[in-house]
Amino acid sequence: MIPVNEPLIGEKEFQYVTECLKSGWISSAGKFIDEFEEKWAAYCGMKYGIAVSSGTAALQIAVECLDLKSGDEVIMPTFTIISCVLSVIYNGGKPVLIDSEPKTWTMDTSQIEKKITERTKAIMPVHIYGHPCNMEPIWELAKKYNLVIIEDSAEAHGAEYRVEIQSDKENHKHYKWEKCGSLGDISCFSFYANKIITTGEGGMVLTNNEEYAEKAKLLRNLCFRKERRFYHTELGHNFRLTNLQAAIGLAQLERINELVEKKRWIGRLYNEKLKDVSGLILPVEELWAKNVYWMYGILLDDKTGMDANEFAIRLREYGVNTRPFFLGMHEQPVFHQMGLFKDESYPVAEKIARQGLYLPSGLTIKEKEIEKITKAIKEIFRKLN
Ligand SMILES: Cc1ncc(COP(=O)(O)O)c(C=O)c1O
Repeated sequence: MIPVNEPLIGEKEFQYVTECLKSGWISSAGKFIDEFEEKWAAYCGMKYGIAVSSGTAALQIAVECLDLKSGDEVIMPTFTIISCVLSVIYNGGKPVLIDSEPKTWTMDTSQIEKKITERTKAIMPVHIYGHPCNMEPIWELAKKYNLVIIEDSAEAHGAEYRVEIQSDKENHKHYKWEKCGSLGDISCFSFYANKIITTGEGGMVLTNNEEYAEKAKLLRNLCFRKERRFYHTELGHNFRLTNLQAAIGLAQLERINELVEKKRWIGRLYNEKLKDVSGLILPVEELWAKNVYWMYGILLDDKTGMDANEFAIRLREYGVNTRPFFLGMHEQPVFHQMGLFKDESYPVAEKIARQGLYLPSGLTIKEKEIEKITKAIKEIFRKLN
């Protein structure tokens, strides 16, 4: 069976972990933590990095930095992981959902403004499966309504967004490329084992704002005060990452360019081999985006008469493992029981949830495995006709 993902662990990871073990600094203090935070922040183009125990913890702390009052609203896509909604609910806020944009599956930014109210405090764009969210309209709205942007970059390590910098006299446009994770006021990463760089479990909050950075550091560590330990003026969490995990992360980070290139190679190879399969909708790369194809997602056209579930079963018969797409947050029974999102409908997210899945995309995958997977897909489609 070809797995959806397998982490790529190299010699450097063993070396750093051994060094960490030998040093005795195995909990949440130590040189690997400091270096990992500093270098990941620098790689993404941000000032401060606060390593935490997961991407979910990163989101929770990021939202907590905003000091939401009960009922304050945060706008986010429905097509995302539950962590985004949890981060707002656990902070007493109200998540407000937006449908997906049909090509990139990220939040449809044209639908945000009509959901902004006096209670809106933040927008949480989520880059999906490696493709950046279109940030320009979000920046405009954040400026117009004075909103904070919390950028969920868990799936977009190394992905980039094209920013227009100036128009010269002849009206030629000039651009620069900015890394995902540097596009908001606070950004959140996951380093779970299926992410482009991993620490097994882990995450990070990035920001240029010193106040947010200080608060995030306190919150991850039970709000111990610097001046006096075991004295608390606020409630915190134990969301600490260990030095051991950071040792793995640092080794991974040292070859991030190679890892991102491998993901893009996987994306190109699938694109090339699947481009003529009628009935399949492939992932895109907008002109303004560098897609890192964290996971290679595909959609089945209605005319195939097959949903993603059935397709996954058939692919398994060929030894190919897949994962279903997210089920929108507005379709989750747990939120309906809480009286949330009950009569809401987001047609694009509903459709892609049923018609989409992602193929094996791990960093260890070989060309001949992609060959085998694409052959299996073509055969399944041939049998449909
Ligand atoms: C978009 C997104 N945000 C947040 C998370 C949460 O990260 P973690 O699993 O590290 O808690 C994930 C995890 O896959 C994710 O895909």
